[in-house]
Amino acid sequence: MAIERTLSIIKPDAVAKNVIGKIYSRFETNGLKIVAAQMRQLSQAEAEGFYAVHRERPFFKDLVSFMTSGPVMIQVLEGEGAILKNRELMGATDPKKAAPGTIRADFAESIDANAVHGSDAPETAAVEIAYFFPTLAIHSR
Ligand code: PPS
Repeated sequence: MAIERTLSIIKPDAVAKNVIGKIYSRFETNGLKIVAAQMRQLSQAEAEGFYAVHRERPFFKDLVSFMTSGPVMIQVLEGEGAILKNRELMGATDPKKAAPGTIRADFAESIDANAVHGSDAPETAAVEIAYFFPTLAIHSR
């Protein structure tokens, strides 16, 4: 399988719960390397831009409001099949439907406060990584 990169965000609920380290540990023990990272409080414009594809969805305002409610931890993960692997580790969007042992099953409360974001395809991964990290900020193998 090819080495890929994916964008991961630990959302305000999980940062507030003090589980950044526990989530990082899951990435590392499953072969995903953290090659760039930044802790940030997103502005409304940044969150709206990041989630622009969801602009027409009924939950857009709530999503932007939640994502700007506290600091987030943003990272680039690298590894074999990183995009799908990260999505598997995250579990389903709704934590009530997430498989046992996934990040959302273990750390998320609800569909809006669901602990983590992960890119869902190579095209979105490239766009999302570029949104937060200039090339020089990424420290690959
Ligand atoms: S889709 O169609 O598969 O892209 O949609 P989905 O993955 O279900 O959701 C996209 C992002 O919106 C968040 N979401 C919500 N936020 C607030 N309220 C409600 N009801 C809600 N439903 C979905 C969801 O957590 C996704 O955020 P990210 O950061 O992309 O995981």
